[in-house]
Amino acid sequence: MKSTSDFLKMKAQGEKIVMITAYDYPAATFSEEAGVDMILVGDSLGMVVLGYETTLPVTVEDMVHHAKAVRRGAKDTFVVVDMPFGSYQGDLNETFKTAVKMMQETGANALKLEGAGEVVKVIEKLTSAGVPVVAHLGLQPQLANVLGGYKVQGKTAEQAKKIIQDAKDCEAAGACALVLECIPHQLTEAVTNALSIPTIGIGAGAPADGQVLVHHDLLRYGKHHIPKFAESFSFVGEEVERGIKEYVNAVKNGSFPTLKHSFTMKDDELTQIYG
Ligand code: KIV
Ligand code: NA
Repeated sequence: MKSTSDFLKMKAQGEKIVMITAYDYPAATFSEEAGVDMILVGDSLGMVVLGYETTLPVTVEDMVHHAKAVRRGAKDTFVVVDMPFGSYQGDLNETFKTAVKMMQETGANALKLEGAGEVVKVIEKLTSAGVPVVAHLGLQPQLANVLGGYKVQGKTAEQAKKIIQDAKDCEAAGACALVLECIPHQLTEAVTNALSIPTIGIGAGAPADGQVLVHHDLLRYGKHHIPKFAESFSFVGEEVERGIKEYVNAVKNGSFPTLKHSFTMKDDELTQIYG
């Protein structure tokens, strides 16, 4: 399994880091077999798997439940788990206990937290206690109600400077990597050049040290809104839809099941039933 020091080396050598989200066992096994460098059990879980409109209803228990399944499917891949909305802004000791519980119950390799400011102290505390932290700046979906929706961040010089400073603060606090979501590619380049830890972009352009996409977005799996920055690498949803429709038709018209799908009793046993 790759470690945080391997990711630092990859950045230094210009080797791209590939991250993908996963929320269950099959997605984790497929991702590991495909050779991704890191798996994120994102709180996007709430939207693409659990059907909530935002990530806000996702609980620590939800994250733990899904992260355990991912760990079972990807034993040799670095797994990062999101701390959900409201689980790391209160008392620092409570946050620490929650983080320890998430690490111990899931076997995760790192936790991800959105934001800087007050969160910088949390990054420092967790890192110094042995919990690797991935920071997350730019669009922070857990702040959507405050930001007024899901908008590109850091478009003005003032906002961009703040993001660069926040990124440096996260690195100084011990973050092992930084996710940059929905910011202009020029700002991604500036942040990436300012840090020695790797940046992982989503809707942040090519200059990041790595990329992350949501499983259900890149595979077009589900009826949820898919962001404009997500390329379609396959069309799983259409296949699922086609398969389920065919199953319904086959049962209705009697073409399934056939003898091939059935179990057979020996003739002499059968005659005894009828006497
Ligand atoms: O929850 C998630 O999937 C994420 C990625 C968008 C980075 O945080
Ligand atoms: Na997230």
